[in-house]
Amino acid sequence: MIYLDTAASSPILPEVKDTLFQAFENSYANSASSHLLGEQVSNEIDQVRELLADSIGAYPSEIIFTSGATESNNIAFKSLLLGGDIPSDKKHIITTHIEHKCILAICDYFVTLGYQITYLKPNKYGIIEAAAVASAIRADTALVSVMQVNNELGSINPIAEIGEVCCKSDVLFHSDAAQSYGKVDIDVDDLNVDVMSFSAHKIGGPKGIGAVYIRDLRKRKLMPVIHGAGQEEGLRGGTVAAPLIIAYGTAITVFPDYYEQFKSIGAKEYLIGQLTDYGISYNINGSGDCLPSCLSLTLSATNISLLIRDNENEFCLAQGSACSSREIEASHVLTALDLTRELAENTLRISFPLDILKKNLDALVLAIKKAAI
Ligand SMILES: Cc1ncc(COP(=O)(O)O)c(C=O)c1O
Repeated sequence: MIYLDTAASSPILPEVKDTLFQAFENSYANSASSHLLGEQVSNEIDQVRELLADSIGAYPSEIIFTSGATESNNIAFKSLLLGGDIPSDKKHIITTHIEHKCILAICDYFVTLGYQITYLKPNKYGIIEAAAVASAIRADTALVSVMQVNNELGSINPIAEIGEVCCKSDVLFHSDAAQSYGKVDIDVDDLNVDVMSFSAHKIGGPKGIGAVYIRDLRKRKLMPVIHGAGQEEGLRGGTVAAPLIIAYGTAITVFPDYYEQFKSIGAKEYLIGQLTDYGISYNINGSGDCLPSCLSLTLSATNISLLIRDNENEFCLAQGSACSSREIEASHVLTALDLTRELAENTLRISFPLDILKKNLDALVLAIKKAAI
């Protein structure tokens, strides 16, 4: 089976799996317990907190472990906006039409609380421009939320420029880095982000663990997302998932080298070259600054349903994003790029595994050729 859906979730890396099993075996104590084992586990968790903080230029005290980027995004909105720091007359949020569905769902929730949402449209390359953010900011804007890398297009937004706009206007800036962490450089000060969301399973870590960075966390009034016994600065109650966090630490350590190695394969350029050589008609969505591991490909002369059905035992392919690929509706990201419903449905999101081989891509190109209309 050739797995081409790593943007949805990547397979666990071997080193991470080893750490995870060892941690399940050895690091079973509750990190809040004051005995020796509890303290050991607490120290192991703090080491990962430090590792993640160091990798983004933050302080360990600004990192909260969560169940993944969905929860981190919920914290970014709910804990900050409803915590009591933001004046109650500031009820305007700026986000984009191409965010992950969880952000759109959180915004829908904030509408029920009386907030107004401005959704920015990407340019034709799938990029959210800083100028669009600047012109949408109002006196009552409480939060701007723009993802760093789009999960369907792989397009990289100019987060530093957007951060500068927000900083000058004194507006909180959140960026969802679920798809970018480990793949593009992140320094929270250079980017001027106040809040950032991360997910382990996008970098070869286990599912069910992630983190949120909150600038000056301890100085803020924050609403807990889970009321509990004070864990994670009182923001997220519940026994801390030590084995998952410890394994996440290994993913943070080993993933960047794997990704560098992957880049040297040139998988994306190779696939595009083969499509051209075989005379397959294609269009790349989001062709600006993009990740080398993600490709949104509209194949207007290919029967996509046939391609997926006939090859379901050979390829794992996604139409649109993972969350919407079982739904009939066209991808909201592609329609934001003005693709018709028909073209959106004729689009594959190909996200490469780190160990992809050129022969795997040759097989894919042949399968596409066979499904020509
Ligand atoms: C951009 C983005 N944000 C959030 C998520 C949700 O992440 P998690 O599965 O860790 O909750 C994803 C995963 O699909 C994503 O791609």
